[in-house]
Amino acid sequence: MERIERKVLKEKPAAGAELGFGKYFTDYLFTMRYESGRGWHSPRIEPNEPLAFDLASSVFHYGQGVFEGMKAFLQPDGSVAIFRPEENWARMERSCERLCIPPVPADLAEEGLEELIRLERDWIPRGEGTALYIRPAVVATRPALGVHASDRYLFFILLSPVGNYYARGLAPTRLVAEDTFVRCPIGGTGEAKCLGNYAVSLKAGELAEKAGYDQVLWLDAAEHRYIEEAGSMNAFFVLGGEVVTPALVGSILHGVTRKSCLTLLREKGIPVSERRISIEEVTAGAESGALTEAFGTGTAAVVSPIGDIRYRGKDYAIGGTGEIARMLYGELTGIQRGRLPDRFGWLRKI
Ligand code: COI
Repeated sequence: MERIERKVLKEKPAAGAELGFGKYFTDYLFTMRYESGRGWHSPRIEPNEPLAFDLASSVFHYGQGVFEGMKAFLQPDGSVAIFRPEENWARMERSCERLCIPPVPADLAEEGLEELIRLERDWIPRGEGTALYIRPAVVATRPALGVHASDRYLFFILLSPVGNYYARGLAPTRLVAEDTFVRCPIGGTGEAKCLGNYAVSLKAGELAEKAGYDQVLWLDAAEHRYIEEAGSMNAFFVLGGEVVTPALVGSILHGVTRKSCLTLLREKGIPVSERRISIEEVTAGAESGALTEAFGTGTAAVVSPIGDIRYRGKDYAIGGTGEIARMLYGELTGIQRGRLPDRFGWLRKI
């Protein structure tokens, strides 16, 4: 693999510094290019510096692009482990297929990622709650304004040492159940991790933040009634002693952390179901006491308790960090950081 050296390395954040989320980026990135007729080619590690693009590139006009999010962790034996990368590569392939992007060969992407992480090992933060966040993306670079799939693409992987996703750290999040704007209808791109899904979420997210909340809790596009997911996480509710999460009906992201939490819950014998959940069921449960916990899951958000939900002008208090969210957070981060046995084979050591 070709490697282009940079002249001056960046200053790394000091040990123990507040990293926030996605504010620092490492010195290098991995890139690969695609042209139709030639396929994916020229994998290389190059300095993470601004690149020049033709402003007619399709991604700037029509949003043809997808991305992923993963994390790598330092292990007690000094090795580095990536959490379930094969799941993310498989999801990226499905996202590419939905957006008419040629699939990026998972073996080439993984090889590039591992080489990049080996090179950037010193950027991996050590503190509790920190990780090296991995952001692969594919964007369309054909300079043409006709609305058609591009014939050339750039694949890249950025690395970012991160702490908590939320500015308020691990404090329970406050969500607004959104009954005006929608994220994605069934048949849309809701399952794909594509750029547009995040662009359409910004307006409602901004309104929620202005009102003092952290994120939006999306309701379905057809009836504005059934819970879909939160801004950057899948949603879970503990109702009448059972853990419930919205079923993957076509408009919801197939979260890798969601899937891992379902495995952990089933392993512990905790009743779980994936089904439709109406916002009325949640608000009634908050009032009657049947809803004992709610939390979100995601690569960035890990397992984040949901403290309260605003719906149609009324706040429904759920509470602090519940027992189940605490257990899942402990198990998940325990496996990721090598403190607990990797009994499901989730870690890819490099
Ligand atoms: C992730 O959890 O990795 C995400 O992609 C969510 C968000 C930061 C966009």
